[in-house]
Amino acid sequence: MKVMVCGGAGYIGSHTVVELIASGHAVVVVDSHANSSPKALERVERITGEKVENACVDVRDAAALAGVFSRHDFDAVIHFAALKSVGESWQKPLTYFDNNISGTIVLMQEMARAGVGKFVFSSSATVYGAPDFSPIPESAALRTASPYGRTKLIAEELIEELSHVDPGFKAAVLRYFNPVGAHQSGLIGEDPSGTPNNLMPYICQVAVGRRPYLQIFGNDYPTRDGTGVRDYVHVVDLARAHVRAVEHLGKGGETFTVNLGTGCGHSVLEVVAAFERVSGRQVPLSYAPRRAGDVAEYFASPELARRLLGWKAEYDLDRMCEDAWRWQSMSPDGYV
Ligand code: UFG
Repeated sequence: MKVMVCGGAGYIGSHTVVELIASGHAVVVVDSHANSSPKALERVERITGEKVENACVDVRDAAALAGVFSRHDFDAVIHFAALKSVGESWQKPLTYFDNNISGTIVLMQEMARAGVGKFVFSSSATVYGAPDFSPIPESAALRTASPYGRTKLIAEELIEELSHVDPGFKAAVLRYFNPVGAHQSGLIGEDPSGTPNNLMPYICQVAVGRRPYLQIFGNDYPTRDGTGVRDYVHVVDLARAHVRAVEHLGKGGETFTVNLGTGCGHSVLEVVAAFERVSGRQVPLSYAPRRAGDVAEYFASPELARRLLGWKAEYDLDRMCEDAWRWQSMSPDGYV
């Protein structure tokens, strides 16, 4: 298939471009580089041995998008191009509404104009808010706890509505749990700008000496060791799920929504212990109060993704830490 990958220079996007090419698909990246480095794509070219066409376009720019659609005959679009910091979304809600909701609408409009009807959308477990129980099935109640979460929920609703109204529009909505790790080459990985919000990049930056210690946000949760429990999933497993999703639509599959997680939860202390074990580095810690909006524990039911796509996460927590550490130690300052 020929696939437009919006946000293809970002963390999950770049890994997905690698897996699409490895599976024999043709890729054109569309990325504004608002939160990604063009160097990621040079690294993707090194890994795959193929040239990757990259259009520096913001998905809200309808005319520029139309230009890219006019030059290619796409079978599908994968849409990663969104803002994803929960904390930042409280400071800049309108920026999040504009990028994440307007961006998705403009992209779907240009797809319709170009006659492209297959769409893979990056959603998040954030649409479950504080879930009532785990493992979480896709049928669980949807609620949001941040402006960021609201953008994902609204975009999901628009996609679902469009697929009801327009028989030519078929979508895969993928709800990610906690993506971590990196490509095994160590050439691409997560490179957050500024202070990392998320656990694994923070641990990596402590281990490489960029930050003195990890703050653990809360050790009084009702979990096995008091720290938050999440479903960490290797980014390469996640990337492969995108290949399955786009191929499923390519074979005529109907619109669907699936969780992408391992089905297994790990606490913050378990992640730190695994990281220390595989990296041989110490990660100094301190305990801090709970972070506003955090939930004690949640993990996915990945059954539907297995049944529908034949997808199952292969890599365990040690492998996630090993690959994250390889990337960070090979590129201590990220894509500089
Ligand atoms: N944590 C720390 N210290 C840190 C960072 C995180 O203790 O410096 C803890 C958190 O309190 C939490 C766990 O590590 O218990 C994981 O936190 P992350 O920030 O890595 O991930 P979240 O589960 O909070 O958030 C992720 C995505 C969001 C998404 C959310 C729900 O980053 O985009 O899952 O799906 F909205």
